[in-house]
Order: sequence, then structure tokens, then C-alpha cells
Amino acid sequence: MSPPIPRHAELLAYRDEFPLLQGTTYLNTCSLGARSRRSSRHLDSFLADWDSLGARAWYRRWLGLLDELRGDFGAIIGVPAGEISLAPNVSAALAVVASALDPIHRGDDAALGRLREAGIPAGTGPRTRVVTTALDFPTIGHQWLARGPLGVELVVVPSADGLTVPVADLLAAIDERTALVAIGHVFFTSGAVNDIATIGRGCRERGALLLVDAYQATGLVPTDLEALDVDMYVSGTLKWLHGGPGTAFLRVRPGLWDALVPTTTGWFSSARQFDFAVDSLDLADDGRRYEMGTPSVPSAALARGGTEMVREIGVERIAERTRDLGDLVIRLADEAGLAVTAIRDANARGGIVSVAVSDPRAVVSALADEGIIVDFRPGIVRCSPAFYNTEDEVRLLMDRLATHAQAT
Ligand SMILES: Cc1ncc(COP(=O)(O)O)c(C=O)c1O
Repeated sequence: MSPPIPRHAELLAYRDEFPLLQGTTYLNTCSLGARSRRSSRHLDSFLADWDSLGARAWYRRWLGLLDELRGDFGAIIGVPAGEISLAPNVSAALAVVASALDPIHRGDDAALGRLREAGIPAGTGPRTRVVTTALDFPTIGHQWLARGPLGVELVVVPSADGLTVPVADLLAAIDERTALVAIGHVFFTSGAVNDIATIGRGCRERGALLLVDAYQATGLVPTDLEALDVDMYVSGTLKWLHGGPGTAFLRVRPGLWDALVPTTTGWFSSARQFDFAVDSLDLADDGRRYEMGTPSVPSAALARGGTEMVREIGVERIAERTRDLGDLVIRLADEAGLAVTAIRDANARGGIVSVAVSDPRAVVSALADEGIIVDFRPGIVRCSPAFYNTEDEVRLLMDRLATHAQAT
């Protein structure tokens, strides 16, 4: 029986949108998604508006562009534009979140009372702990490690197999000292998709908040945030949203806005931003309450090219094609006798399929010399075919990867 053909070959019509695909065999979207020609068009419009309108571009174009971007992010994860807060990167969004958690760590009565009113059974004592996992992205841990001097303690749940962290292990790490559980929707090394619905319910029952770092999931894993007990969701445009660096976003569940009041802030979070009142601060009554200062509008313009395209194609189609190409990587790696360190069940895998080799840096560099772009993490080569990749590109990668893995 011949192997199944990856679904949605019609998406290959989008290849012309991506100059990067013309000159390379690009299988590294989990690191940086390719840039589309529509991103260039949005960027050109930004420059033209600057040149023709000067400062009037803010009111006539750029504030609208930021709203459209909030709308795109919201539509991709199933919430209204007004619930989205823009940020320059995930770390900055986390800094705002962390500032709102400080009184909960201290056990401030009023802050805990507001959490209880919002339906989180947070009890009365200090909740000094943040729980994350050994497979999460460093910036998640760093945010709360930096608060060590304030008495915040980071609990890191280990992974026995280096691929996954069982939900039971994560939930067992939560106790009455836990303010927050912070975990990736998709782990950035193994590509494992976490069961956010079960984790969310478990956190809620135990009085802990849940923050999901969805950087490796947004635009790739179909997500309906309204249906999940996710208290805070952070993501950005570098990877599966094909929007380049400089734009990230946060969504705090609206039911928590009164309970989670940021102390790291800026004038874009003000309800009356253009009153220019230095002596009063009322936070905006929408997601902008968690924003800070002047956003990078050129980054937002680039980002819109990607988000528009993801909405046009639909995350479901992107997911199906990406999963099928990932299955092809695994099958070819097995046939070549390579050590696959990926999640084999396509439904539990995001866009990353890793192969263990003895010298990943040398293999990645040898592949790059041949125009094949993937990347490495300790012990592994990360392959991440996206909707725009062909089967032939995957075959070429695996053929050359097998050769270089044997040679190093
Ligand atoms: C899972 C995950 N979280 C966060 C980030 C980036 O964080 P930041 O926007 O703070 O650079 C990345 C990749 O760059 C990532 O893969």
C-alpha cells in the first residue's frame, strides 16, 4: 500500500507569496516563519503613510492598524478584538502579568478577595509559588526567578522522557501556595501538545491561575479560548503566524480584569490616553489595560500580512497539512534508521519533529551548506515543515539528514 499523501496540496499555491522558499529548502518555521509578500505590502503602506501624513498617520491609519491586528489575533483564538493586549514580545507581556500577581504572592487580603469573587478558590494565605515545567521556554521561568528576592519561588516539574510532562505530575505540583501554573500549549523542543482543557480544570479546582504560552501553537493548533479555563494566554508572531519579530500579544480572561491589576504599565493602557493627564490613571476598559508604551507599528504592519493569511487559510487546514508532513518526516526517519525523538501521534504533536544525532550543530551546518534550513537544540535536529512545504522538500531533507548524521 502506498503511503498517504499529505492533505491540502492546494495550499502550495501560497508558495509564491514567500520569497524565502524560492532560494532555500526551508523547514524551520518553528524558529522563524517565512515572510509573505503581503507583509511587504503592509510595510510599504506604513512607510507611504508616514511620508504622506506624518504624525496624522497615527489617527488616520496606525491606531486602526493596531485594532485590525488585535482583531486578527482574537479571531484566530476565538475571542473578540477588545480582549487582546499587544506587546513587543512575550517577555514584556509576562512582566505585566507578573506585576499583577505580586499582591497574590504576598497574600494581600484585598487581592485574594477579588480573585475569589472572580471564581478562583484562592483561599486566604500567601501564594508564593509559580509552577512550570522543565520543557518550557526559558523566559517563562526567568520572569519569576527574577522575583526570587520578593519571595517568589519557581517550581519546575521534570519530564521523565524529555518529550512530555504528564498532566497528573503537573497537577500534583499545585498546592495552596501556588499562585500560577505557566505552561506551553506546545513544548518548543519536543512539539508535544499539552491538554490545556484538563490542565485548566485542574488549576481552577485547586485555586491556581493558568497561563498558557502558546507561541508554538497559535496559527497551528485550532484553539477556542472561550471554551477553555485559560486565565492568561501569551503568544507572538515569529513562528506559525508568519509575522516576524516585534509583535506579541496577551489575553487575560475578562472575568479577571478587576482581580489582576497591573503595576507595570504605560500610557497605552490608559482609558483616556489622549487626555495626557500625568496625575491620573484609569486603566482602559478593554484588553489595552495590559499594554505599555508606543507599539512598533512597522512590526504590526509585517504581522498583519501573516495573520491575514492564517485567517484566510484557516487554522484547521494548516494543522492538517502540517501534521501530515510531520508524519512523513517520521516515516522517512524510521526508514533511514534515524532516532526519532518526536511525538508519534499526530493529534498530540504541533509543528516540530526532532531527530536525535550525535552532533546536531555540525549536521545543521552541513545541511545549510546545501541550502536546507533546519535548526538544532541540545542533542537534536528540529525539523518543522509548514503548510507551504512540499513532500519533495521533506524527502530531500531526510535523505541529506541521514547522510550527514552518519558522517558526524
Ligand atoms: C514557546 C516560546 N515562548 C516564547 C518565545 C519567545 O519569547 P519572547 O517573545 O519573549 O522573545 C519563543 C520563541 O522565541 C517560544 O518558542
